[in-house]
Amino acid sequence: MPLELAVCDYPEHVSRAEWLTFPARMKALGLEYVRIGEFAWSKLEPRAGEFHWDWLDEAIEALHAAGLKVVLGTPTATPPAWLIRAHPDILPVDVHGRVREFGSRRHYDYSSDVYWRESARIVTALTTRYGQHPAVVGWQTDNEHGCHDTTRSYSTQALEKFRGWLERKYSSIAGLNDAWGTAFWSQEYNDFSEIALHNLTVTEPNPSQVLDFNRFASDQLIAYDRMQTEIIRAHSPGRWVTHNFMIFFADFDHYKAAEHLDFVTWDNYPTGMLEFFAPPSTGEALKLEFARTGHPDFVAFNHDIYRGLKQKPFWVMEQQCGQVNWSTYNPLPANGAVKLWTLQAIAHGADVVSYFRWQAAREAQELYHSGLLRFDGTPDRGHNEVAAIAPKLALLEDALLPNKVVLLHDYESLWAYDVQKHGQNASYWAQVMHYYTALRELGVDVDIKHPMSDLSAYSVIVAPALNIVSTDEAANLESCVQRGAQLLIGCRSGFRQPTGAVWAARAPGPLAVLAGVKVKNFDSLRPGLTSRVEALDMSFETHTWNESLEIISDDVQILGTYFSDPLYDEAAVTTRPLGAGSVTYNGVWSDQLLRRLLPLMLSRAGVAHDLLPHGVRLTTRGTLTYAQNWTRGGVALELPAGTEFVIGTNLLEPYGVSVYRLPQ
Ligand code: GAL
Repeated sequence: MPLELAVCDYPEHVSRAEWLTFPARMKALGLEYVRIGEFAWSKLEPRAGEFHWDWLDEAIEALHAAGLKVVLGTPTATPPAWLIRAHPDILPVDVHGRVREFGSRRHYDYSSDVYWRESARIVTALTTRYGQHPAVVGWQTDNEHGCHDTTRSYSTQALEKFRGWLERKYSSIAGLNDAWGTAFWSQEYNDFSEIALHNLTVTEPNPSQVLDFNRFASDQLIAYDRMQTEIIRAHSPGRWVTHNFMIFFADFDHYKAAEHLDFVTWDNYPTGMLEFFAPPSTGEALKLEFARTGHPDFVAFNHDIYRGLKQKPFWVMEQQCGQVNWSTYNPLPANGAVKLWTLQAIAHGADVVSYFRWQAAREAQELYHSGLLRFDGTPDRGHNEVAAIAPKLALLEDALLPNKVVLLHDYESLWAYDVQKHGQNASYWAQVMHYYTALRELGVDVDIKHPMSDLSAYSVIVAPALNIVSTDEAANLESCVQRGAQLLIGCRSGFRQPTGAVWAARAPGPLAVLAGVKVKNFDSLRPGLTSRVEALDMSFETHTWNESLEIISDDVQILGTYFSDPLYDEAAVTTRPLGAGSVTYNGVWSDQLLRRLLPLMLSRAGVAHDLLPHGVRLTTRGTLTYAQNWTRGGVALELPAGTEFVIGTNLLEPYGVSVYRLPQ
């Protein structure tokens, strides 16, 4: 696959005469694909059954004539007003039990049969008309499923569907009572019809019920997307189908959602998301430092997740190319940021980077959002950076080789962890990012996979927060360790069974026989409350979460011991040989300790690593290394003689990227 650039555009937002000047300019900029149509339902069908195809016919023809390929979006994220008025029960119900009204977007309930039927109707009409057009190379279903908190609706339709889902899952109500532990607080049911939704309970709802509701809502969303995909495939043979996922979005199981797609895409808004995801411990300082670029690891982590879903190249369907409009603060990106983001995406496995959007919107909700063009059609800052990058893509390589290190991630653990965080500063993502960032600071390339996937090729397996662990997952990990992998398990892993209840034999559940330890006590720490651990001949401060460990196997070596109350003298970090590999359990949350522990494991596995200068990241794709400077100062790279530079030199400019091939 060639590495290419694309753009999102909205012919329905400007006059025909103005829009017809765009395709030639897009092509001249070096763009190859244009995504259109994903919100255009009211323009395509202004009244029930009355279709206006002329404008889209003309737009597709004009793009085709300019030599551009078209990605068509199905417009189901925006059901039009006439449809909502005819069928108000399409509207979703929020967590407070209120109907979410028409007037923005994503105002539909995945449980609405009417909406499934109407969606099938518009997707059939659209794909019948354009499915075989030579310019149309692929389809995007809907837009950002689940965005604006829309995966879960608390409507009566959702309740009915949930009851049916539970009945299919448990067969008998006794099975459900048992799995949910409903003896607690007298929550036992005699019949599935007695079950209510959990959104308006007096205090905490049953966490196993919440977990099942999340699974149900996820399954329903995926089935809806599959329905659209099947219609597209029937009418548009030979074209691919994808969906655009979001940064750190976790309200549905993306591994399952990706199964029916040809490849995945995601929408990358690095500065906007920094405001939401900077961990509380370092939050404000981090937000200031990376305000104009976003944080390298938050972005890279999402690239790695989306590459991992299907273990193949992905697209960035919407790439920020100026300021966004929706975050808490919306600074202009740094000079060079668009180039940095584009090359970072390619380095992590993107084959196509598609900018959002061509021209800034002059009306409505997003008029503070940049495009490649300003309101008047003059090139904006992002446009100039894209013009500089486009000719360089031919110098890069598309090959994608597996890495040696894999980090395990799954959505059910996230749901279970976050429903009972047991500490405001703890969260699934924060714990996972703690490990990911430490690996990236050491210059290590990381694959991200589900614990049930084939992990046999990895030398190092990092499992930061598998809160739910099944016996099958434990068996999968054990076989990798027996064959020689170094496994690192983070605290709070193996705490729960798939039902959501704890493993009665204590954490880490079925991982205990691998690690040779059991958790004795866990300790949730408020900000400022810390403990000390002596490990690897040093003393470390720990925060957020501590666990003390009981040793259950003679061959366990204690690497770290508490040196402060209340866990004084108890084991905190252990390691144990197993088969040809080893299992290390890290019971604490300590940035410095992790930065000592990981190199030990990487060295055991023979994985090269070296602490990088602050704000510098390395990523390898094919035989090329992409060195990225996410700081506002210059950085000199020390590289061996014979290094061949494809882009840049060994002097990294502020926010600069150099791409090079090391001597063999
Ligand atoms: C995305 C969305 C786009 C646009 C963009 C603005 O989440 O898919 O339609 O709203 O954000 O940044």
